Amino acid sequence: MSPRDPGVSGSLRIAPSILAADFADLANAIETVDEQTDWLHVDVMDGHFVPNLSIGPPVVASMRPCSAKFFDCHLMISEPERYLESFAHAGADGCTVHVEVGNTAALLAQTRELGLRVGLAANPDTPFERIEPFLDQIDLLLLMTVFPGFGGQSFIGDVMDKVRSARRVVDANELAVNIEVDGGIDLTTAPIAVAAGANVLVAGSAIFSRPSPLDAARALRDAAQSSLV
Ligand code: DX5
Ligand code: ZN
Repeated sequence: MSPRDPGVSGSLRIAPSILAADFADLANAIETVDEQTDWLHVDVMDGHFVPNLSIGPPVVASMRPCSAKFFDCHLMISEPERYLESFAHAGADGCTVHVEVGNTAALLAQTRELGLRVGLAANPDTPFERIEPFLDQIDLLLLMTVFPGFGGQSFIGDVMDKVRSARRVVDANELAVNIEVDGGIDLTTAPIAVAAGANVLVAGSAIFSRPSPLDAARALRDAAQSSLV
């Protein structure tokens, strides 16, 4: 099956992170937020690149029949080259690797060859200069607004300088690159990130830890929309 379309580059996308959902009831979690969300963000952790373990390709494959959304797989893993193909076969639409892993050009090329949308992620303390050379090779730039590994952390506002730099370069060069923020995104921080130039908002606890995840997703979209210029 060919990958799903991520939508018009640069348009506002709400991407709930299933890391904050009930893993025993993922089908229900996915369906609950379907109407008010655009992508599904899948956090993959290997206990090595980050000090936590989460899920892998079999879970992506199990979720695939439950959703027509673009599956945005965030690989917080040390050796993505070993697993990219399995994610593609499992039904991922895009895979994002971390620049801190190294071997970036080859990983981006491998992702592209597999027919996936290509993403590159950077930790909060990784400078823009480290990712800038790859902007013309990617579809998605994920700027972490927490140190990866756990949901429920506080948004690091200093990252907004990097979001602004990325938005300037993407727009000036008319690059079809989505700019995604991930970590601590809620009703207060979503408008800040959008005003800085982000257009894809990942939210875990701000959606799935709320009494009504659907209402929470709607409120997040409304809050973000209010800062769109
Ligand atoms: C953190 C993950 C995030 C996380 C976000 O390592 O990459 O996607 O699920 O969770 P919240 O929105 O709770 O900060
Ligand atoms: Zn993530």
